[in-house]
Amino acid sequence: TERTYIMVKPDGVQRGLVGKIITRFEERGYKIVALKFVQPTEEHLEKHYADLRNKPFFPGLIKYMASGPVVAIVFEGLDAVKTGRAMLGATNPLASPIGSIRGDFCLAVGRNIIHGSDSVESANKEIALWFPEGITEWKSVFENWIYE
Ligand code: GTP
Ligand code: MG
Repeated sequence: TERTYIMVKPDGVQRGLVGKIITRFEERGYKIVALKFVQPTEEHLEKHYADLRNKPFFPGLIKYMASGPVVAIVFEGLDAVKTGRAMLGATNPLASPIGSIRGDFCLAVGRNIIHGSDSVESANKEIALWFPEGITEWKSVFENWIYE
């Protein structure tokens, strides 16, 4: 079983979309194993988006991401990384299918409301960065009704 790092960005929080976003993952069958509400520092976000540091939009991205609190979440379940990305849609909301989170709730690439890990390797790095205290393992009573 796999884990992914999902984060409701400051615009998602401001627009009151936290509940809807969490509900989509819960309804799909994913299990929360870590969750917190935090105001990230620019320094922390520069680590999170280190791969993008040479992009022209990097300074704006860091400002946007530090502009308010975010909800940091780890979801666990079958194919969590790839399926999580599919649930998000494309980076550009206008290229995201209707029915995906970005395809249903936003319009601009620089205000795309949610982050999701793009590989198992980045998920592991991001989970360690956002949850150095570790995650909380637990067994859902629905497990046998979600997995065969
Ligand atoms: P994340 O889940 O946030 O990592 O998005 P992603 O994996 O779909 O895209 P990527 O990691 O390449 O970029 C990270 C974030 O930078 C995006 O979600 C956007 O918010 C922002 N971003 C990416 N490309 C652009 C761009 O061309 N212009 C602007 N303004 N922002 C961009
Ligand atoms: Mg990314």
